[in-house]
Amino acid sequence: MENNIHFLLLILHCSMISLTLAATNIITDQSALLAIKSHTSHDLQNILATNWSISASVCSWRGVSCGKRHRRVTALDLSSMEFTGNVPPELGNLSFLAFLSLYNNSFHGSLPNELANLRRLKYLNLANNNFNGEIPSWIGSFTTLQSLFLFGNSFRGSVPSSLSYLSKLETLDLYNNLVQGNIPEEIGNLPSLKTFYLDKNQLSGSIPCSIFNIPSLQLIDFSNNYLSGFIPSPTLNMSSLKIIDFSTNNLSGPLPFDMFDHLPELEEIYLSWNQLFGSIPSSLFSCQKLRILSLSNNHFEGTIPEEIRNLTMLKQLFLGLNNFTGKIPRQIGEVQSLEILSLIQNSQTGPIPSEIGNLTQLKLLDLSYNNFTEFGSEGIVSTKGDVYSYGILLLETFTRKKPTDEMFDGEMDLKRWMRESLSADSDSDAVIQVVDDYLLRKYDEDFEANMGCLISIMQLSLKCLADSPEERIDMGAVLARLNKIKVKFIKDSKRN
Ligand SMILES: *[C@@H]1O[C@H](CO)[C@@H](O)[C@H](O)[C@H]1NC(C)=O
Ligand SMILES: *[C@@H]1O[C@H](CO)[C@@H](O)[C@H](O)[C@H]1NC(C)=O
Ligand SMILES: *[C@@H]1O[C@H](CO)[C@@H](O)[C@H](O)[C@H]1NC(C)=O
Ligand SMILES: *[C@@H]1O[C@H](CO)[C@@H](O)[C@H](O)[C@H]1NC(C)=O
Ligand SMILES: *[C@@H]1O[C@H](CO)[C@@H](O)[C@H](O)[C@H]1NC(C)=O
Ligand SMILES: *[C@@H]1O[C@H](CO)[C@@H](O)[C@H](O)[C@H]1NC(C)=O
Ligand SMILES: *[C@@H]1O[C@H](CO)[C@@H](O)[C@H](O)[C@H]1NC(C)=O
Ligand SMILES: *[C@@H]1O[C@H](CO)[C@@H](O)[C@H](O)[C@H]1NC(C)=O
Ligand SMILES: *[C@@H]1O[C@H](CO)[C@@H](O)[C@H](O)[C@H]1NC(C)=O
Repeated sequence: MENNIHFLLLILHCSMISLTLAATNIITDQSALLAIKSHTSHDLQNILATNWSISASVCSWRGVSCGKRHRRVTALDLSSMEFTGNVPPELGNLSFLAFLSLYNNSFHGSLPNELANLRRLKYLNLANNNFNGEIPSWIGSFTTLQSLFLFGNSFRGSVPSSLSYLSKLETLDLYNNLVQGNIPEEIGNLPSLKTFYLDKNQLSGSIPCSIFNIPSLQLIDFSNNYLSGFIPSPTLNMSSLKIIDFSTNNLSGPLPFDMFDHLPELEEIYLSWNQLFGSIPSSLFSCQKLRILSLSNNHFEGTIPEEIRNLTMLKQLFLGLNNFTGKIPRQIGEVQSLEILSLIQNSQTGPIPSEIGNLTQLKLLDLSYNNFTEFGSEGIVSTKGDVYSYGILLLETFTRKKPTDEMFDGEMDLKRWMRESLSADSDSDAVIQVVDDYLLRKYDEDFEANMGCLISIMQLSLKCLADSPEERIDMGAVLARLNKIKVKFIKDSKRN
């Protein structure tokens, strides 16, 4: 008898749940979308006014997709529609939504708590808007979420530790916000995370050791923050991790000697602009897939070991502005893939090995500001170098464009493009267009200083590229100018 009553109650309860579910229907979805329409103050392309008409089914509205069977709104993609407005709480009524993108508009304000009801979300992209307020901790309740993009907003507060409940999360991108505080240790509980961007925020404290407990991780970028303390050493085999960027922080201490023992797939590591010291751990030379090694502007010391020869895929080696001593090992000549070798401003001595001449892919060699005693017997390194090619190199390095790129067909060569882009008397928009995005993204912490520095470098490269050889600046003067630019840059940078 008692059991029967329980059973009856259960059935009743279930029917009531289905009743409330049935009560939300496509009309609920329509009113939620109409609320978005009415909260959008600018609709430059007139999409909402002309297309979102109640005489047609919401499933035919631009940016809206519905499920095949139940005909409820499952995806809302309003990316790049030049909308301005705020997000109404009614958006939280789109209970079947699995995909939501407001990417690249001018939505502002904070996120209403009602969005916590969007439990079916797999993809959430609010990036490149003007959202502010805290990153809400209820995002941690979206148990099926795979991608979370919040970059390019003004989110404040801390990284909520509840994000660690997102067991399906593969991409977490908070790049370029105003997020502060520590990176929560719990973040290491994310079992599916592949790409993790926290760069260009105001994070402090140390890098949690738990970060290296995520075996699926492929890329970590924590650059451009105020992180301090030591870099932890992975204890698990991180056999997916390809890119680590901890540059432009306040990290200190030596690198753990076994740091690279568990990073067999590492391709790029950026640790420049920190306070790291000690020598390069020999475990690094077991990373056979390493393509970019950037340790510039730290206090590293010791010699560059012969094992450098093991890095047979290495393309870019930045060791400048450190305290490296001793000779450049001859074995550098075996790193046939090397394209950029920068040892600028160290305390290296002895002859420059002639084996550098074996590096046929080399495009940029900067050994200036060291104490080398003599040039190699082949005379491959000389300040009488071809200024014109050096100018091209500067351009290529800072614009990441090559004279052979598609955009330079016919008349419009790289040089002319540069000159025309800069002719608006060095206004910063032109420079932003010219300079490789990556460099500005890397260094925009010190935007003014960078801009000044980059403009000077661009102008210098144009001097190297004068049409007639007599008009070209000579290599000694180029080096002197580069040094002046650097000194000014260091002086102008906030970090120094
Ligand atoms: C709205 O746009 C969609 C897709 O762009 C189109 O298929 C639909 O016919 C449009 N509806 C109206 C009423 O213009
Ligand atoms: C952002 O939206 C604008 C306007 O639709 C578009 O021109 C631009 O290409 C978009 N930018 C990105 C990065 O998607
Ligand atoms: C939708 O959301 C709003 C605000 O959150 C709420 O007032 C309303 O009752 C909800 N339900 C329906 C069916 O629209
Ligand atoms: C890591 O990988 C190496 C080589 O593949 C293997 O010898 C070692 O046992 C692994 N270590 C762990 C902790 O799995
Ligand atoms: C960087 O760390 C040093 C100690 O290692 C500390 O004295 C300094 O204040 C820190 N700078 C910033 C900007 O956090
Ligand atoms: C460098 O390569 C040599 C020969 O392949 C190997 O014996 C040595 O262990 C490697 N060194 C490191 C640090 O991995
Ligand atoms: C290099 O070492 C010297 C002596 O130990 C020290 O005074 C100097 O600050 C160091 N330079 C750098 C860039 O770390
Ligand atoms: C390098 O040369 C400069 C001056 O030429 C000198 O002051 C400095 O002590 C030298 N450093 C080393 C490490 O030899
Ligand atoms: C590298 O350079 C040295 C000296 O310049 C030369 O003897 C040697 O044959 C070169 N090796 C290769 C592989 O080119």
